[in-house]
Amino acid sequence: MFNTITVVGAGNVGATAAQRLAEKNLARTILMLDVVEGVPQGKGLDQWQSGPIEGYDTKVVGSNDYDAATGSELFVVTAGIARKPGMSRDDLVKTNAGIVASVSAEIARVSPDAMVIVVSNPLDAMCYVARKGTGFPRERVFGMAGVLDTARYRTFLSEAMGISVQDIQAMVLGGHGDTMVPLVSYTTVSGIPVQQLLSQEKIDAIVARTRAGGAEIVGHLKTGSAYYAPSAAAVQMVEAIVLDQKRVLPASAWLTGEYGLRDVYLGVPVKIGRGGIEEIIEVTLTDSERSQLGTSADAVRVIQNLIDQG
Ligand code: NAI
Ligand code: 2OP
Repeated sequence: MFNTITVVGAGNVGATAAQRLAEKNLARTILMLDVVEGVPQGKGLDQWQSGPIEGYDTKVVGSNDYDAATGSELFVVTAGIARKPGMSRDDLVKTNAGIVASVSAEIARVSPDAMVIVVSNPLDAMCYVARKGTGFPRERVFGMAGVLDTARYRTFLSEAMGISVQDIQAMVLGGHGDTMVPLVSYTTVSGIPVQQLLSQEKIDAIVARTRAGGAEIVGHLKTGSAYYAPSAAAVQMVEAIVLDQKRVLPASAWLTGEYGLRDVYLGVPVKIGRGGIEEIIEVTLTDSERSQLGTSADAVRVIQNLIDQG
């Protein structure tokens, strides 16, 4: 168990993640930080008071002051805004890059040894900002997206085959966006290649639906984006760290030559434990998957360059 895990941003993803973290008893204290006065405090107190009913002793608190996070072992960064009508993608990048840069500087100031899981969008580029802002090594700054995208992919496969999600093994790599790369060649049902159980046409439709998974939910909600599965995904990564599980999960990691790519944050399979990203696992890809990964890296680089230009 950790002493303190801090969730930055007490909005939909952040507050739901805090609740899930408390229910899993992963830290003595879960701290929510937000710029809006009263919201993290109110949500924290409400969640703390759920403990006697749900059976956890975790203390959940909220604050607007980063000093409250001094010595926190792990930060989950969900601070940011969603794209609003009339706002360009570039505007969103600049606004969230400013937010994540200021959050990162505060994290480095109050907890220089902490680990950081980034959730804010655009995900891979925000990892880049967080790494620059904290100055932490790549092992300690990485992003959540692949766990979510893979969960969506597995859900759709499960529905199409009428088979438990628990027996579907899969991995979605690449950037968190239209260019993500569901690895069909590594998708199996208890070891059976998915191509033996589903037609290529159905697999293609599921891959397309997975790529548009976030937009599908925005289309329903209209005023916000997904947060139940995203918070569950972030908490799965936290759990792997706190319990030193050595899980192999897709995460956005800073590449230094892996998969023939460098100087870019991109979703790849990693081993996650107490040391954060303990290993980037390189698997053999088909020519098509390798080329799709390259295209995805190019798309992330465009945003990283935009950030570097200020
Ligand atoms: P939200 O709008 O409900 O919450 C965002 C919170 O951040 C708000 O409470 C806001 O006050 C706070 N905030 C803004 N500036 C801040 C600052 N400087 N310091 C601390 N807090 C600050 O949004 P939601 O739904 O929680 O999403 C959060 C972010 O996560 C968005 O950027 C969203 O696009 C992203 N996201 C990423 C996913 C992924 O797979 N990586 C999945 C789902 C959401
Ligand atoms: C999602 O995929 C918005 O990135 C978020 O739901």
